Amino acid sequence: MSRELRSQGWFGKKDKDGIIYRSWMKNQGMPNDMFDGRPVIGICNTFSELTPCNAHFHSHAEAVKKGVLEAGGFPVEFPIMSLGETLLKPTAMLFRNLASMDAEESIRGNPIDGVVLLTGCDKTTPSTVMGAASVGLPTIVVPGGPMLNGRYKGQTIGSGTHVWKFDEDMKTGKMTQEDCEFAESCMSRSIGHCMTMGTASTMACMVESLGLTLSGAAAIPAADSRKKQMAQLSGRRIVEMVKENLTIDKILTREAFENSIKVNAAVGGSSNFIIHLTAIAGRIGVELNLEDFDTIGSKIPLLLNLMPSGKFLMEDFYYAGGLPVILNELKEHLHKNVITVTGKNHHDNIKGTTDCYNREVIASYEQPLIPEAGCVVVKGNIALNGAVIKPSAATPALMKHTGRAVVFESIEDYNERIDDPNLDIDENCVMVLKYVGPVGYPGMPEVGNMALPKKILEKGIKDMVRISDGRMSGTAYGTAVLHVSPESAIGGNLALIQNGDMIELDVSQRKLHLHVSDEDL
Ligand code: FES
Repeated sequence: MSRELRSQGWFGKKDKDGIIYRSWMKNQGMPNDMFDGRPVIGICNTFSELTPCNAHFHSHAEAVKKGVLEAGGFPVEFPIMSLGETLLKPTAMLFRNLASMDAEESIRGNPIDGVVLLTGCDKTTPSTVMGAASVGLPTIVVPGGPMLNGRYKGQTIGSGTHVWKFDEDMKTGKMTQEDCEFAESCMSRSIGHCMTMGTASTMACMVESLGLTLSGAAAIPAADSRKKQMAQLSGRRIVEMVKENLTIDKILTREAFENSIKVNAAVGGSSNFIIHLTAIAGRIGVELNLEDFDTIGSKIPLLLNLMPSGKFLMEDFYYAGGLPVILNELKEHLHKNVITVTGKNHHDNIKGTTDCYNREVIASYEQPLIPEAGCVVVKGNIALNGAVIKPSAATPALMKHTGRAVVFESIEDYNERIDDPNLDIDENCVMVLKYVGPVGYPGMPEVGNMALPKKILEKGIKDMVRISDGRMSGTAYGTAVLHVSPESAIGGNLALIQNGDMIELDVSQRKLHLHVSDEDL
């Protein structure tokens, strides 16, 4: 390595500043040779006990440090703002960009040559990757890993996905409060993030498919010792990446983003993927628009049978072979002229690790679970700029549906009236929720899969068409048209819909139409 490293702009100085840069670091017991020009590796830790999904990250950081030291680097761990999905109000999404700025300036402003991102809960992955992309150093991600499968009274239960089910069962009297509290412990029974294909698992698959992790990292459960092995190996690898000057921009090319869109379709990833991938692309200077997600991903079949689209969980995905099996199934459809953190492409990385051990969990490309599964962009007079629907989480019979609008003017209005026995609604209606987009409700809450009225649930109905300018949790399911743009708060036609208007959704025709004339609108 002949090139002088960035960190030597601090630690290599022979003047007063050099004394200051080195001396204060030595109060941690660091010997003099740590400042001799070896790669300094920042370990960006999103640990917080208020982000339960990331609360185990100290042990991952220690494993990364071991790897960095073994490879001759100098590891330095630093915290950044941690965004936990369950507790933080009004919504973690409101602070994603703030956290990305924290990551960016912490990396840029310090004597760091390469960075390892420890990520887990939903927003901690995109925020740190966005920050790292803006700085442009060699970067590797260590996903924190999902929780072990939830088990409750003999049945497998999934994070988030079963929250909606428990809530419905409480409303209809099938579950008591006591049952529910017992089920809570059964659902979250180990360290790690949500083990459904919610947004955290989606983000883990996203970074692996983008080439930002070592191969197979996404699916390893947090409690599995191989997760720490992966962290240690990532620590070794980032030192080599610094020596090779393998910066993040060499990995995050347009082709890498296209690969990731295809993989997201195949795993039934969250609709939040669209929002986060677009933000990362913006930071690295790759052009990516809403239509790309439909054009590139919508024809890709669903291969992974995980909740909320299917029946298994991340632990099963890992035992079935993990993301390398998916990458292998998609190999004819993925760009090969991309490199990953190993310096090689996926095809080379996954050699010898492509056997599928459970075809019920990971289907083959030839015999998929659903033939076309990627997010679809629908347009029409309700959504002139488009709206998003995730077909793998929707009810096939509702993908072409016309119904009478039942309108909620705000989330407060929805909460107040949804279980009113006098609400004029039946299962053929289309539920509309306004003012929950980024401007209307800063943070764009995950309320797009609004729960059905109690009186509909009591009939045994599980799904209805729902339309909003908000988001939907990746752990949720339903025929939910999301992210309607322009949103109601900035004058989108969504704001003009009235009770009784007829709305037509036709996913195959990419159509979302309000049967009201242009003149009336
Ligand atoms: Fe953290 Fe679901 S709440 S991943």
